[in-house]
Amino acid sequence: MTDRTPHPQTDLLTSAGPVAAPAAPAGRPRADAEALYAQAAADRLGFWAEQARLLSWEKPFTTVLDDTEAPFHRWFTDGTLNASANCLDRHVAAGLGDRVAYHWHGEEGETRTITYAGLLDEVQRFANALRGLGVTAGDVVGIHLPMIPEAVVAMLACARIGAVHNVVFGGFAPQAVGERLAACRARVLVTVDGARRKGRVTAVKQTLEETLRTLPDLEHVVVVGATGASCPMWPGRDSWYAEQCAAADPVCPAVPLPAEHPLFILYSSGSTAAPKGIVHTTGGYLTGVSYTHRIVFALDPERDVWFCTADIGWITGHSYLVYGPLLNGVTSVLFEGAPDHPHKAIWWELVERYGVTQLYTAPTAIRAAMNWGEELPGRHDLSSLRLLGSVGEPINPTAWQWYHRVIGGGRCPIVDTWWQTETGSIMIAPLPGATDAKPGSATRPLPGVSAELLDADGTPIATGTGLLALTEPWPSMLRTLYGDDQRYLDTYFSRFGKDTYLVGDAARLDEDGHYWILGRTDDVINVSGHRLSTAEVESAVAAHPGVAEVAVVAVPDELTGQAVVAFVTPAAARTGDAALEAELREHISVRIGKLARPKKIVWVEGLPKTRSGKIIRRLLRDLVTGQETGDVTTLGEPDVMAALTAAVTPPTH
Ligand code: PRX
Repeated sequence: MTDRTPHPQTDLLTSAGPVAAPAAPAGRPRADAEALYAQAAADRLGFWAEQARLLSWEKPFTTVLDDTEAPFHRWFTDGTLNASANCLDRHVAAGLGDRVAYHWHGEEGETRTITYAGLLDEVQRFANALRGLGVTAGDVVGIHLPMIPEAVVAMLACARIGAVHNVVFGGFAPQAVGERLAACRARVLVTVDGARRKGRVTAVKQTLEETLRTLPDLEHVVVVGATGASCPMWPGRDSWYAEQCAAADPVCPAVPLPAEHPLFILYSSGSTAAPKGIVHTTGGYLTGVSYTHRIVFALDPERDVWFCTADIGWITGHSYLVYGPLLNGVTSVLFEGAPDHPHKAIWWELVERYGVTQLYTAPTAIRAAMNWGEELPGRHDLSSLRLLGSVGEPINPTAWQWYHRVIGGGRCPIVDTWWQTETGSIMIAPLPGATDAKPGSATRPLPGVSAELLDADGTPIATGTGLLALTEPWPSMLRTLYGDDQRYLDTYFSRFGKDTYLVGDAARLDEDGHYWILGRTDDVINVSGHRLSTAEVESAVAAHPGVAEVAVVAVPDELTGQAVVAFVTPAAARTGDAALEAELREHISVRIGKLARPKKIVWVEGLPKTRSGKIIRRLLRDLVTGQETGDVTTLGEPDVMAALTAAVTPPTH
């Protein structure tokens, strides 16, 4: 099915946030979009420079791209700017201080309305507070907070003084938080006394305490008092956020920083157990997110109410809950809670209440809403919606159709947006009103983005299936992996050279030049749009004393896209039973987080291995997905397969 609904769209090339936002004309002519693709193709660097100039630069850049040390690309190098000034000060200076930046909606229905001026005020205070704790430009500040406004304040306060934020997802367990703080040598952590989740409060700071004491670089912990949960405070190290802000000087001018100054590090799972610290810098990242947010979502900052449901701890939260919307001067909904609390129609209630115009969410959430039934969205007036977005995994056509019909009332275009933590901003997506959407396809690379599909030798494929690659640098690309330039080279550029960023996804390219993402080609599992590394889960399971050996594979799952299945050989003293299963599930929750818990644990006496002892996960995957097991000739012990088949096959009575 093709969605050919025309869609009102502002003039995306000239709307630099609210400052110059024109009224929305009634539809974007297809020819305009084609002109945009053509302009970018004819002069890619000129095109990006034009996008970058829509930001406010303290010192304008003259160099667009410096690729002398490719693939360590540098953009807009001689310019200086500040991210928080671009998100806040310029809008306030333009008279938009009273515009709502966030409608915050708490789990229990409490609300806070945060204007651009109000946000600027709190950011300045907290930036001064961080300074008071000795934080200077280049220092790393960890942020481990739930979906509360202080998370945004903390990020922008760091950006204001040139500190580098490392947001660690609130759902991670203490050990995973500790690893991510230790790896980037965070000097300060901003966290919370307690986090609410579905009516329960977790004492976050108290639970983290033991881990925090193991971090030699951590000098200060600032605690947001959000719930009154029990919270031990270490004299000299710990302080309360509210007291820090109250005592701080209210004025903190934004520090102009070189475009290549690091803005943040965000850890993402790779194919080894050690998470990758993805580094994004200031000028290029801001250019990419503001441009893509404007163009893909057809923004009209004067009128739009934007609702991105991603957690702030993932890249989607960074790019499209914080930086993109603020750079473009949009009003957002920031929802603290889970989609099914206090009831399963809460998102639709929020859409009606705040008059949401664009909703950006993940296929897994759409599938869950489908399961809950269409009478729930039917109870609310969703007529304010005019555009729907999808991100994180391929959207299956059934979910696409449901999203289009039930949530979009058959009138809202859907933009399926493909991108990654590494790309910083959306790379492949339709332009609403101008690209014919195809359910399940992210369609074309955006103007300014160069993608190709390659075969195993690196030769471009015109149509068919292959490896997705990005073949020209783009401003919001990661600059390196924190502290590990070699891993950056090895992970993304070793196979086809420094000019070809290998994405790690397989895709199909159709006759219209549209991409259909098929999934990862590495050992990364995508559970509910969150990346998990097979190796990270395996090493957590293997650390349990009841386990002799483990292998983890991904299987397709109707709700979460993919799910984890663990094949476990119990240690000699243990048997594979319900007690060990419960222990392992708890153990994984504590080591990584609940999202890594296996859907299924299969007890096995041995794992399929090559003669050199390497586990052949492919065979396990075939077994659990009920496929013919492929080539078994490399197996060291061929008999193991019969026992494995028996282990995954339920007994017949
Ligand atoms: O496999 C692709 C999948 O998510 C991966 C990136 O994960 P992460 O860095 O956590 O970022 C998620 C949010 C941007 C990709 O390599 N992916 C992301 N978006 C899509 C997708 N797969 C299919 N369609 C998408 N729209």
